[in-house]
Amino acid sequence: SMPGMDMSSTQDTMCQGNTHTSGTPIAALQAPQTAAHVDTFTLIAQSKKLTLGSGNTTDAWTFNGTSPGPTLHARQGDLLIVHLVNHLSVCVSIHWHGIAVPNIADGVAGVTQDAVKPGQTYTYRFVVNDPGTYWYHSHQESFDQTNRGLFGMLVVAPKTPAVHDDVDMPLALHSWNGAFTLNGNAGTLQIAARPGQWVRLRLVDTNSSYQLTLAGTPFMVAALDGHDINQPAFLTTTTLAVDGGQRYDLRFQMPAQGSVALFAAHDGEQQYPKQPALLVGTGAQAAPTISKTVFDFAHYGQPLPEKITPQSHFDITYTISLGTTIGFSNGRPGPVFTLNGKAFPDTPNLLVKPGQLVRLRFENGANNGIHPMHLHGHTFTLLTKNGHALTGSPIHLDTISLHPGESYEVAFYADNPGLWMIHCHNLFHANHGMDMMLVYP
Ligand code: C2O
Ligand code: CU
Repeated sequence: SMPGMDMSSTQDTMCQGNTHTSGTPIAALQAPQTAAHVDTFTLIAQSKKLTLGSGNTTDAWTFNGTSPGPTLHARQGDLLIVHLVNHLSVCVSIHWHGIAVPNIADGVAGVTQDAVKPGQTYTYRFVVNDPGTYWYHSHQESFDQTNRGLFGMLVVAPKTPAVHDDVDMPLALHSWNGAFTLNGNAGTLQIAARPGQWVRLRLVDTNSSYQLTLAGTPFMVAALDGHDINQPAFLTTTTLAVDGGQRYDLRFQMPAQGSVALFAAHDGEQQYPKQPALLVGTGAQAAPTISKTVFDFAHYGQPLPEKITPQSHFDITYTISLGTTIGFSNGRPGPVFTLNGKAFPDTPNLLVKPGQLVRLRFENGANNGIHPMHLHGHTFTLLTKNGHALTGSPIHLDTISLHPGESYEVAFYADNPGLWMIHCHNLFHANHGMDMMLVYP
């Protein structure tokens, strides 16, 4: 087993990580990291009482006293040096979700590093080659620590922007004890924008499943998991189903008059709350009904020639079927979430060699829940949904969410040696078995 990984439920605050599980010399997994421009940040894990708005307060674990922690801004090609300082009484780490970091910087306590003990510091170094919307969160007891507030956003600006945004807003969706918040605000967050201005909302879902929509003007989904959609079309009254770990960049132009509002409800709720989560500009917006038209990225935007297609020659095809059962998890009876019928650490490793083209087939049962499956250290190309090839833009993701009855094929080049997790980003599921390892032996 790998003590100290996020699926461990131990209350022990000793850091139990052992980085040398693979026998691979760590130096080999630490690619040379230099760049013309360096951004240095310090993130201090500390506890703080937060005000969520509407009189709600909560005890939180934060980076630099806020949750979300500070948004880290960088430019494509920059080297990031991030000092994590631990002022909490528990061990922590930071995972850079969506970034193809060298394995040593992946932040998985017990696998790529020892968890950082109270009073200690750990430094992450990695180059951000891909522009877009990313995020960071603790990967020590990640279900508990992300829920308690140890997360923030990372925005990488492109070297040469394809479009201009007048307003660019990172927005973290987080459920605090079941209450929806946007950037830590349980009420309506307000931002200013003038008629005609272009607005980009960078949404990250940190820990729950939501239904969202924008009211007041047509909008586009400009990027998914940080990666641009080719020629996105305008949408109206469309429901976005957003799940843990996913990012959606929405763009729209402010109408000549009135506001644009973001409405959000938890998955399964029948209506949006009366008050929007976000109001851009001035003037009220009435809550729309929840549309049955759900955004489907497999048929959105325009095709482009793509390196990896369903006709490519794959060196490895691996099927992962998602399941739920009742069993023993961490010694207690309860739900267990499985990959091919096994719960971590009994799930088999997926062994790959550098340069191989790897196809993953994810299958979810009709009566199963929602499982946003996340791959560390790599970006994959979406090949098929429910057996059908894409009809729209190429789609590049690090988290593919499977709703009941869905199947997806994705593929990626094994180009980043190390030990990497594949897990459900419903972190409760990850904490109860839904994890496996991608291993370059
Ligand atoms: Cu954002 Cu292993 O997770
Ligand atoms: Cu799951």
